[in-house]
Amino acid sequence: MSGSMQRYLESKRSVDDRALNRRVLSRFADGLTARARERDGPVRLVEVGAGVGAMVHRLAAWDVLPPRLSYRAVDVDEGSIAYAGERLPEWLADEGYAVEGRGDGLLARKESGGVDRRLEISLETADAFAIEGTADAVVACAFLDVVDLEAALSTVAGLLRDGGLLYAPITFDGGTGFVPTHPLDDRIERLYHRHMDELRDEPGSSRAGSRAIARLPDAGFSLLEVGGADWIVHPHGNAYPDDEDVFVDHLLGTIDGALAAYPQSVLEPADRERWIELRRGQLDRCELVFVAHHLDLLARA
Ligand SMILES: C[S@@+](CC[C@H](N)C(=O)[O-])C[C@H]1O[C@@H](n2cnc3c(N)ncnc32)[C@H](O)[C@@H]1O
Repeated sequence: MSGSMQRYLESKRSVDDRALNRRVLSRFADGLTARARERDGPVRLVEVGAGVGAMVHRLAAWDVLPPRLSYRAVDVDEGSIAYAGERLPEWLADEGYAVEGRGDGLLARKESGGVDRRLEISLETADAFAIEGTADAVVACAFLDVVDLEAALSTVAGLLRDGGLLYAPITFDGGTGFVPTHPLDDRIERLYHRHMDELRDEPGSSRAGSRAIARLPDAGFSLLEVGGADWIVHPHGNAYPDDEDVFVDHLLGTIDGALAAYPQSVLEPADRERWIELRRGQLDRCELVFVAHHLDLLARA
């Protein structure tokens, strides 16, 4: 079972793998290790907006997680959670985990380097703003820019009421670019970002990364680390790696939808159509490079 959102999130995995800021990630890993030393039971991690479970797989594969961890992956989209349930057993098995189904989730175990790893994963379809519980760490990847930032920080602070870490990588921060450049690019970028900030029905912000840094102290957090995490997609010869053309095509569709919301007096529909058609043609011919700017944030509650 897979819809266009799941295909997009699947195609985004390798782009995020490259983009994630390793300095911030390493500090997050150190924080989890320190938390594990303080606790008797498993470290409790909640991921909000977990999508298809890419971060569960990545953090397990990259040995970021302490040996005993409960991972609660929450997303409001039932299709993405179902996809995670289908794909995670195989992804984790590829990393050497023995995986078994467990109620609404999975139990993944492996022994490596003399350490017994035990990962209890629950997959939950729910509105992240309505969940209850306590966590040692909250992961919010590519999430703070698509939700109400104030509400998100307050929800996370509630989950981390015993102190703990917020790791918010891939938080969009106001840069969208294409190569080759085109005379309409600057205008289109401005209108696309303005649509995120002012026009679309859904919440979100084109400067969520910077805004989050500014809002963290009032929301009860101190910033521990921050770093750039840019999406950069370029063809390798006559193909894009790992279906990354699907990823760029999806984003072009999002930009097209945003631009279509403007009246003719702001942007001529013919200009929009020509620009999108040109970009899609360049993508088909493996001539297009795409760049988007994000911040990875790590904060302590
Ligand atoms: C841009 S996607 C990122 C998904 C995943 N974190 C990743 O990086 O691949 C944003 C995700 O947030 C989810 N989402 C949006 N609002 C939500 C909410 N209120 N509660 C839970 N999930 C939400 C969406 O369904 C979507 O899967």
